This record gives sequence, structure tokens and C-alpha cells, in this order.
Amino acid sequence: MYNFSFYVPTRIHFGKGQISHLSELRDSGEKVLLVYGGGSIKRNGIYDSAVQILTDASLKIYELSGVEPNPRIETVRKGVDLCKDEGIDMVLAIGGGSTIDCAKVVAAGAKYDGDAWDLVLDPPKIKAALPIYSVLTLSATGSEMDEFAVISDMSKNEKWGTAAECLKPTMSVLDPTYTYSVSKKQTAAGTADMMSHTFENYFSFEEGADVPKRFGEGLLKTMIKYGPIALNEPDNYDARANLMWAASHAINGLTRVGNAPEWCVHPMEHELSAFYDITHGQGLAILTPVWMEHILDEKTAPVFAVYGRNVWDLTGDDDLAVAKEAIAKTREFFFETMEMPSTLREVGITEKSNFEKMAEKAADGCEGCFMPLSKEDVMEIFEAAF
Ligand code: NZQ
Ligand code: ZN
Repeated sequence: MYNFSFYVPTRIHFGKGQISHLSELRDSGEKVLLVYGGGSIKRNGIYDSAVQILTDASLKIYELSGVEPNPRIETVRKGVDLCKDEGIDMVLAIGGGSTIDCAKVVAAGAKYDGDAWDLVLDPPKIKAALPIYSVLTLSATGSEMDEFAVISDMSKNEKWGTAAECLKPTMSVLDPTYTYSVSKKQTAAGTADMMSHTFENYFSFEEGADVPKRFGEGLLKTMIKYGPIALNEPDNYDARANLMWAASHAINGLTRVGNAPEWCVHPMEHELSAFYDITHGQGLAILTPVWMEHILDEKTAPVFAVYGRNVWDLTGDDDLAVAKEAIAKTREFFFETMEMPSTLREVGITEKSNFEKMAEKAADGCEGCFMPLSKEDVMEIFEAAF
């Protein structure tokens, strides 16, 4: 087990009706920037509930709406300008990961003198941020309880993650009923995303890190149990609740600290989104089994076999055989049980002209991964996923 420091300052209010806790925003001042996406929160009534509670608590509301899936730097800049012009005290994101990520970089940009894109390219430049609050409406990214934010500049085909301690939300409301209206596509993509976060933290050669690994297996079993139920019964409370809480823990450090591999499937997916604007979780689902197959060999087979035995309840003594079966189970889960697209073509990527550029960027800096990938490896994975 490696050394680590673990600190999650986010207060979570979990369950039905917990939005009433938005009155606590009064602790951070008077002026709140309400950040949201393309309008789902108006259609399902969350917007009205939030505005009522904020108004009753004498908070003055400013709005940044229209945050895109794969949020754009242009929208972040608009939010930063609003914060600076109006002297905003805090930001409140209501939405999925895109909205929360946008709100985070707005909060940091409000405390920074230069252009907000600097904070995306160079995380140590984030020295402070306005207090960040969130009401989560889609279980996937874990942004509600982590230090990360991912922002795109589509004019440059760039999508980068940034991170800072001060980007961890002060408080997040997790009401599973708010995810009842999430579409089948986004429910499946969200489940693939939270599974991928768990995988990225889980696969390593570290043998003494039982606590994070056994936590990870428990989360994966939960996601595999409840993902299909949520897909077919969108208003099943326990399914939505377990997915929501599992997603937060998949990336808040619990399954990473002490184990600590660098991530490699996410950097590859971020290139797909940067060039083709695809849905993050769909890209991860397509790449994951291909990546597993690409790196499967005598050295990795025992690690994949542990995954197969502990997550999929597979039996047998032959590590390579169990590893292959575990990868097949993963493939079947994403593409049959969760009904997700299985190739890049199916998500609209019809040509490969950018693959080389993308592979070069994705391979850069993955030396610390479970199995380091070269540009050629990434090219092969993209080709196989095509
Ligand atoms: O924009 P609105 O109208 O709200 O609609 C959204 C959007 O179209 C909709 N939606 C959200 N909640 C809903 C709902 N529709 C109906 N009912 C609801 N309750 O779902 C669509 C997708 O939303 P989005 O926020 O884009 O999805 P997600 O939460 O999957 O976020 C994806 C973004 O997060 C980044 C991804 O790269 C991507 O940009 N990530 C952030 C991470 C982090 N901060 O830690 C880590 C992840 O690995 C990931 O990279
Ligand atoms: Zn992700």
C-alpha cells in the first residue's frame, strides 16, 4: 500500500427531498450563480424547487444556462465574466458532470486574473475558487464529490481535465429521484463511466492494497447489479440510489488511494470526444474491452483473473482462461445487457484521419499506467474499436 493523504470536504445530503438543504448556501454569502445545462432541470421541476428555496433563503440568483455536454471553454468564460461583473459569492451547479465541471472552472476563474483556459491546461495555476455547490441529476462522473473538471476547446480539438483541492464541492445534494428522467442512453453511458473510473483505479500490480481493491470490487458488483435495473425501470429508487452513491465513491479517492495507478482509457476517450464530440460514457464502453484484450498477456492475466473471480464470480484455476472470460463478460454487459453501441462507427466516427494525432496525445504521459501504452498501442486500440 502506497502512502497517501485523503480528504473529502464535501457534505453530502442524500435522499428524497434533500434539496431543502440549499438554504445552507446562505453560509457563503448572498449572490449565487446558478449554472445549468440545456433545460432538463426545467422540464423535470428541479429548477422551480431550487429557485423557491434559494429565494426563501434571501439569496440573489444570477444564471448561466446552456452548458453543453462536453462543456466548452466559451461557456466557462461567460460565467467567469458574470462572477467578476456582479461580485458573485458562490456557484451552484444543477445537472450532470458537464454542468458541475463548468461551474467548477467558473468558480476558479472568478479568482484568477488571466484566461480560464490557463487553469485547464495548467492545474497548479488554480489557487482559489468561489465555494462550489451542486445538485446532481445524473449518476456518472462523480464530479459532485471530487477535485476534477473536464473542459473542451472544440476550435482546437482539445479536451483536458484539470484538478485542484479547492474544486471539491462544499456541499452536494444527491436525490436519486432526480435521475428518474435520465434517458436510457445516458443511464447506460453513466454506468459505463462509473465502472471505468473504478477500473482505472483498480487494475494494478500492487498486491498489498486490499482496501481500495475490495472497495472497487464491491462498487463494480453494485453497478453490474443495478445498471440494468435502472435501464429497464427508470423510477426504481434502489437502483437509482445505489448507482448514485457508487458513482461518487468510484472517483472520490476511496478506491484510488494506496493503489494509485495512472489512468489510460480516459485519456484515449477524451481524444475521441475532443475530435468527434461523442458521449463520454459511450466512448469508454467501446474502448474498455478492446483495451483489456490489447494488454492481456501472461503478466496481466492474473490481475484480470482476480477481477473475474471477485466481480463476476467466475471459477477455475487457469488465470488466462478466467481473464478471457472476464473480458467477455465485460463486453457482454456493455453491449448486450446495457444495450450500448459497440464500435466507433456506431457513434458516428466514420473516418480515421485524426487517429494518429489523437494517439500521440493520448499516449503522452501514460508511463505510470497499469500497462503503459505507446502511440502505436493506442492506434491499434482505436483501429480495433473502429
Ligand atoms: O443539459 P441538460 O438539459 O441538463 O441535459 C443533460 C445532457 O443532455 C442530460 N441530463 C442530465 N440530467 C438529466 C438529464 N436529462 C434528463 N434528466 C436528468 N435528470 O444528460 C445529458 C448529458 O449530461 P452531462 O452532464 O454531459 O453527462 P455526464 O454527467 O455524463 O458528464 C459528462 C462530462 O463529464 C466529464 C466528461 O468528460 C464529460 O465532459 N467527466 C468529468 C469527470 C469529473 N469531473 O470528475 C470525470 C469523468 O471521467 C468525465 O471525464
Ligand atoms: Zn469518466
